[in-house]
Amino acid sequence: AIPADTPPAAAHKALPDAQTVTSVRHWTDRLFSFRVTRPRSLRFRSGEFVMIGLMGDNGKPLLRAYSIASPAWDEELEFYSIKVPDGPLTSKLQHIQPGDEIILRPKPVGTLVHDALLPGTRLWLFATGTGIAPFASLMRDPETYERYDQIIMMHACREAAELEYGRELIESLPEDPLIGEMVGDKLKYYPTTTQDDFAHKGRITDNLTSGKVFADLGLPPITPGADRGMVCGSLGFNTDMKAVLEGFGLREGANSDPAEYVVEKAFVG
Ligand code: A2P
Repeated sequence: AIPADTPPAAAHKALPDAQTVTSVRHWTDRLFSFRVTRPRSLRFRSGEFVMIGLMGDNGKPLLRAYSIASPAWDEELEFYSIKVPDGPLTSKLQHIQPGDEIILRPKPVGTLVHDALLPGTRLWLFATGTGIAPFASLMRDPETYERYDQIIMMHACREAAELEYGRELIESLPEDPLIGEMVGDKLKYYPTTTQDDFAHKGRITDNLTSGKVFADLGLPPITPGADRGMVCGSLGFNTDMKAVLEGFGLREGANSDPAEYVVEKAFVG
């Protein structure tokens, strides 16, 4: 017999907007990525973010903004996160396992989208740390390769191990059955470290103002006629990058007013 206090089946879905974790990968003791099921109704533009999280101890959802790292065509959603030991959300989120549920509010927004940029020939993606997440989506989106002749991904981290998520993703793209042919040799990758020994070193800002990245890649300097930029990193990085890009003559755009570059803060737990 069924006990009288058995909750109705609906109560099983304890979390509002619950999605199920399908895989988790730890890249360093400070970085991990994970994939979750995608709500059937969720439409988003590559580069946008959503609010995700867990139920807090007080019974209220504990949510943070996370860029969707997977492309719009993917049937799952991917996220890339830091682990903050005493971070309210990431101290717990870092322990998720396949089969666990997270909360995902299906309201994607953001400025790192193609629509916020005027047409151009080269797209520069500038990220520090987990700021590469929205670009992990855009680099897997066919539209990126339809719109631009060249895409340059500059990613800076303190240590080489922190570049791995991006490196693996980017190196796998030419073999990707869906977009490999479109990527071809259009995508140039320029990873640097600022603390570790590595093939290329230095802050993104410095490598742009010194001209080192143009020399290393054999590209002309950034001009407002040809080049477009998307920036995602820490507050200090974003501020300094704005000055660098404005120095090249680029103006900041928005969804409602497209221009030559756009900026969004990388989100932290
Ligand atoms: P650096 O090691 O020289 O500070 P963080 O972990 O502090 O967010 O930094 C991630 C990466 O972003 C590091 O490589 C760091 O370089 C770089 N970075 C931090 N602030 C800036 C800035 N204002 N301009 C350029 N790069 C920055």
